[in-house]
Amino acid sequence: MIFENLKPQIETIVLNKNKTVDKRLLSICELLEANITYYNWVGFYFRNGNKEELHLGPYVGEPTDHTIIPFGKGICGQVAVSNENFVVPDVTAQDNYIACSITVKAEIVIPIFVNGENIGQIDIDSNTPNPFTEADERFLEFVCAQVAMIL
Ligand code: SME
Repeated sequence: MIFENLKPQIETIVLNKNKTVDKRLLSICELLEANITYYNWVGFYFRNGNKEELHLGPYVGEPTDHTIIPFGKGICGQVAVSNENFVVPDVTAQDNYIACSITVKAEIVIPIFVNGENIGQIDIDSNTPNPFTEADERFLEFVCAQVAMIL
């Protein structure tokens, strides 16, 4: 099972104090994008201090214009407010969606909590329609919990 193989690698990256936190986050993005065929853009967004907006952090995939996303806007902005996972099997069925690339068919966003507070999220775009299952949610919750330990 790919997720079970990746978990110890995530732990190793997180614990590597020789790298900055941003470099570790980038390594996680690279690991996921390289090993999970339907993860085509992988990135982190973080709340900007006390402002109700998200800033793009480390990512892999096509550059995006959406480096700042107001709370409530798009899938990411909705997760900043709801504090819940958001799985989108078909992005064309979403009204409140910010398109980054025409190749994207589906998206999953999982919030990151530090001391119970939603401080950011991992965002994954897929060029495959309806690819995400509960196994992705459980795995990405693990990734977010690991990342939360170094934020
Ligand atoms: N699609 C996201 C915007 C971020 S990009 O996917 C990188 C959204 O609707 O919030």
